[in-house]
Amino acid sequence: MQLLLNSSLSSTANSNGPPSYPFVGCLFSFYKNRGRLLDWYTHLLSQSPSQTIVVQRLGARRTIVTANPDNVEHMLKTNFANFPKGNPFTEILGDLLGSGIFNVDGELWSTQRKLASHEFSTKSLREFIVKTLQEEVENRLIPLLEGAMESENVLDLQDVLRRFAFDIVCKVSLGTDPFCLDLSRPVPSLVKAFDTASEISAMRGMAPVFLIWKIKRALNIGSEKNLKEAIKLVHDSVLEIIRSKKRALETKCDDGDLLSRLLSAGHGEGVVRDMVISFIMAGRDTTSAAMTWLFWLLSKNKNAEKMILTEVGSRSLSDYESLKDMSFLKACLCESMRLYPPVAWDSKHAVNDDVLPDGTFVRKGDRVTRFEIEPVCNKQPVFVPLLTAHMTGGLKVIVRKRT
Ligand code: HEM
Repeated sequence: MQLLLNSSLSSTANSNGPPSYPFVGCLFSFYKNRGRLLDWYTHLLSQSPSQTIVVQRLGARRTIVTANPDNVEHMLKTNFANFPKGNPFTEILGDLLGSGIFNVDGELWSTQRKLASHEFSTKSLREFIVKTLQEEVENRLIPLLEGAMESENVLDLQDVLRRFAFDIVCKVSLGTDPFCLDLSRPVPSLVKAFDTASEISAMRGMAPVFLIWKIKRALNIGSEKNLKEAIKLVHDSVLEIIRSKKRALETKCDDGDLLSRLLSAGHGEGVVRDMVISFIMAGRDTTSAAMTWLFWLLSKNKNAEKMILTEVGSRSLSDYESLKDMSFLKACLCESMRLYPPVAWDSKHAVNDDVLPDGTFVRKGDRVTRFEIEPVCNKQPVFVPLLTAHMTGGLKVIVRKRT
């Protein structure tokens, strides 16, 4: 009813959203732009004086997209309770993430949030992370780069960094080593299943009409059949790791990883499975995307690269406090993530009617998406904002010895 009413009021383009028509809303332009939603929204936002647009189409809920900082603060702080992730979001990732922190609201979220905040602020987990990072860099990443330098082979840095990030996040979350950065081994089936599951789950969110993936899921056909198989592999593999960790914990004390900590604290298998899967999902592609774009930007900004090298100096990688002191490197990372955010958008769903600080009226059930990106010029690599962003075609590099 709302959709029809709004559509009939705005049958042509308006400054606060895409062209909309009676009944279908902006379905056609959404479909046309479905492969470049980020660019499309960025363009529409740049035309809107309040940096907010309203998108309505047949088969999907009314969506408010905002890049307005006051609106973002309102949703994430001032009126946080009114903007949970919401069922429409958690439904998309629910089959994969279950009740993991990344996909729940309310009490379930709050308990896991407190647990995660506590664990990640402990000195012992921080030391474990830095030690893991140091080992992976010294024993795998540097030898791999040296190998590429000697052979003069072209290396896909994005692929290398994704493997690197997966090894780290698995070692920290599960206490197991998937040996992803060891290129002599085949890509582990768990990695392939994670890739398939996150890609198809992301496609659910981009579908012009949500009912279609739901019908495919009910009939277990096409991409939904592949998703179901990939999720089963992820769940079974992680449960297997949990069970073998439990057996190991009976005979020795914990190894310092997150899984050991959760099991030692007495949490059940199902809860722990969902929690660690959320951490792997949350930590893997975000960090590799951030590093890929940073290295690409540095290759274009030799001055900044030199300043980072000066700051690194003879610093040891094994000292967390010394890493924290690297303010120029931190500034470069922040700037790189501002230009190419690893998580380009994030949605919440309104529990009750509300009015955002810029005056946009939010109806109960509306989706509100916060969003931040600078348009890129044609010569630059293409930024692909699926669940987590990446660079189309990877970042191909040649490794040379620094003089
Ligand atoms: C450059 C790296 C990263 C970026 C840009 C990033 C970004 C984000 C964003 C945008 C959210 C959503 C926040 C919200 O909805 O309010 C999030 C949540 C989360 N991230 Fe990260 N993240 C990064 C690295 C990591 C790593 C390394 C881990 C852990 C291994 C991690 C674990 C989580 C978890 C558990 C959540 C859910 C928190 C909650 O719902 O309270 N993230 N992250």
